[in-house]
Amino acid sequence: MISMIFACDEQGAIGKNGDLPWRQSTDLQHFKRVTLNKTIVMGRKTWDSLGKALPSRRNIVMSRKGVEGIESMTFEQVLELAENEEVVIIGGGEIYALFLEHAKEIHRTIIHTCVEHADTFAPEIDDVIFYLLSEKQLEPSDRDDHAMTFQHWIS
Ligand SMILES: NC(=O)c1ccc[n+]([C@@H]2O[C@H](COP(=O)([O-])OP(=O)(O)OC[C@H]3O[C@@H](n4cnc5c(N)ncnc54)[C@H](OP(=O)(O)O)[C@@H]3O)[C@@H](O)[C@H]2O)c1
Repeated sequence: MISMIFACDEQGAIGKNGDLPWRQSTDLQHFKRVTLNKTIVMGRKTWDSLGKALPSRRNIVMSRKGVEGIESMTFEQVLELAENEEVVIIGGGEIYALFLEHAKEIHRTIIHTCVEHADTFAPEIDDVIFYLLSEKQLEPSDRDDHAMTFQHWIS
């Protein structure tokens, strides 16, 4: 099964200048809970921004040019792997767009802000295809820049 997880602002922005445009510790904890001990797939630019493999997860990077020091797969190989286990797509924008039509679950965090000059966006979730299973709004802790809403969509 393919699932995906992303955090976006109120206009769907997920990135700016190759990085996340906020400091949102509570969302990082949520990301860890959802992805721990699973296989995660990311694009090469997200891999570059992380700088290292995320622990206790099988990290797979997609690149047309090739990447060193980490497992890499083609689109077809990721789909094949997902026939037998949950594969979580963790970004960025190009890779979310690529897998959206194959996703059975989406974990979306809406960060309640509007990022100026964002350059990367999440795909829109079609509410004819996906159903909002749960939603929870949280006020920011002292380690978060903004309030956030956790959503869990299924198709
Ligand atoms: N808010 C969030 O939840 C979140 C999550 C993740 C990332 N982000 C942000 O998103 C931004 C990065 O996203 P992005 O869209 O620029 O890049 P990306 O999706 O992370 O990576 C794009 C790269 O993936 C590879 N790729 C794309 N399609 C492929 C295919 N069909 N087969 C093989 N490889 C393929 C290519 O690598 P090569 O160029 O090496 O060929 C391409 O340049 C950053 O700002 C990051 O911080 C945000």
